[in-house]
Amino acid sequence: MDKIVITGGRALKGEIEISGAKNSAIKLMALCLLTDEPLELTNMPDLMDTRSMAQLLEHLGVKHARGPGARMTLHAPDLAHTEAPYDLVRKMRASFNVLGPILSREHKARVSLPGGCAIGARPVDLHLKAMESLGAKIDLVDGYVVATAKGGLKGAEITFPFVSVGATEHTMMAAVLAKGETVLYNAAREPEIIDLANCLNAMGAQIVGAGRSEIRINGVDKLSGVSHAVVPDRIEAGTYALAAATTGGKVRLANVRSDHLGALWPLIAQAGAKVTMDETGVVIERNPKSRLRPVDVETQAYPGFPTDLQAQFMAMCCLADGVSIIRENIFENRFMHCPELIRLGANIKVTGREAIVRGVKELRGAPVMATDLRASASLIAAGLAAHGETSISRVYHLDRGFEHIEVKLGNCGARIKRMKE
Ligand code: EPZ
Repeated sequence: MDKIVITGGRALKGEIEISGAKNSAIKLMALCLLTDEPLELTNMPDLMDTRSMAQLLEHLGVKHARGPGARMTLHAPDLAHTEAPYDLVRKMRASFNVLGPILSREHKARVSLPGGCAIGARPVDLHLKAMESLGAKIDLVDGYVVATAKGGLKGAEITFPFVSVGATEHTMMAAVLAKGETVLYNAAREPEIIDLANCLNAMGAQIVGAGRSEIRINGVDKLSGVSHAVVPDRIEAGTYALAAATTGGKVRLANVRSDHLGALWPLIAQAGAKVTMDETGVVIERNPKSRLRPVDVETQAYPGFPTDLQAQFMAMCCLADGVSIIRENIFENRFMHCPELIRLGANIKVTGREAIVRGVKELRGAPVMATDLRASASLIAAGLAAHGETSISRVYHLDRGFEHIEVKLGNCGARIKRMKE
């Protein structure tokens, strides 16, 4: 197993190229199941999660290949199976989202329930209710969802009781080939939803309203192959922006959609960093000699502040001159980074869904353990700002979602290396 070792206390300076969004890429990959023509994805990140998805798709009969320039082609002329086994689904929850496309193409699917994960129970009840509304019969047998739709899926009006990114995406993927119109109310509005709809529409789907709470989908008979560029990763961009604000220095982020981080920029500015936008990039600048200011934040569905940046935001607040209150509204157990940040000298008290962060003058390096993907990123940011050496173990979490993180940060002057544990 690898660990990451950082000798901190250095400001970041340089430019970082942001990769394609993991959370878009893994759903886009599954779209190849909806057509017998090849799907080409460009700006494709190479991550553990995209590899896990490729492995699952391969099991289903998809031929896939990586090309130069972050390109991937996926082709499913026929499906070899309609079953996604536990061993492949448990590696990554989002792989559950192959259920809808398989069901819509083959009128039957058997997909392992994904189970909970470190950040919370994460049920899939909304996904299953939506499939039932589209006319599927759902049975739970031996840990598997067995779905059948004799004669195919049929359009329906579906109101989600609360906003779910995964359920919105999954229902869209299933409804594009259903007969008639589907209307989704209280849909998620994340940029990844728009990316998915853009790709599907380019394939011939008829989706209107992605990015708004009401999405209308007119079912079509067939989808075709297409080439689509994955949207830039707003969470990766936000992570580096927060790391730069935490350490101080000056970092330009290239290949960013700054409009996708509208909730972050004012808060970074409030903390004392200067944020400047240009056409394709964002510059984050802060004098490392000045103290950060405390900022309160609460996570919300898009366009609110993303839960996937909460841990990284907390790392910044650990060094602020005052008290910040951070509230996590999306997942019930997403404060596992707190005990690890405390090992670095942070002063954090967690009560239920709130963390009270009393800023300290400096953090000090220590051995810490990554507990999930975004928690790992917060430890990296804190380690970069801390004096002395921080070693972060279990970095396989990090490799699920950050492409070449040590190279990108190393290019900005960070003393960071990957080592065998
Ligand atoms: C997506 O997860 C992202 N994952 C998450 O990123 C992200 O944190 C989350 O959206 C919120 O933005 C991917 O896109 C692969 P939800 P998802 O359905 O779709 C509850 C990362 O680090 N819920 O919007 O699973 C659920 O438990 C990951 O990259 C149900 O109760 O999130 C949660 O509390 C972590 N029943 C809330 O809704 C359901 O059927 C929102 O979850 C579905 C969800």
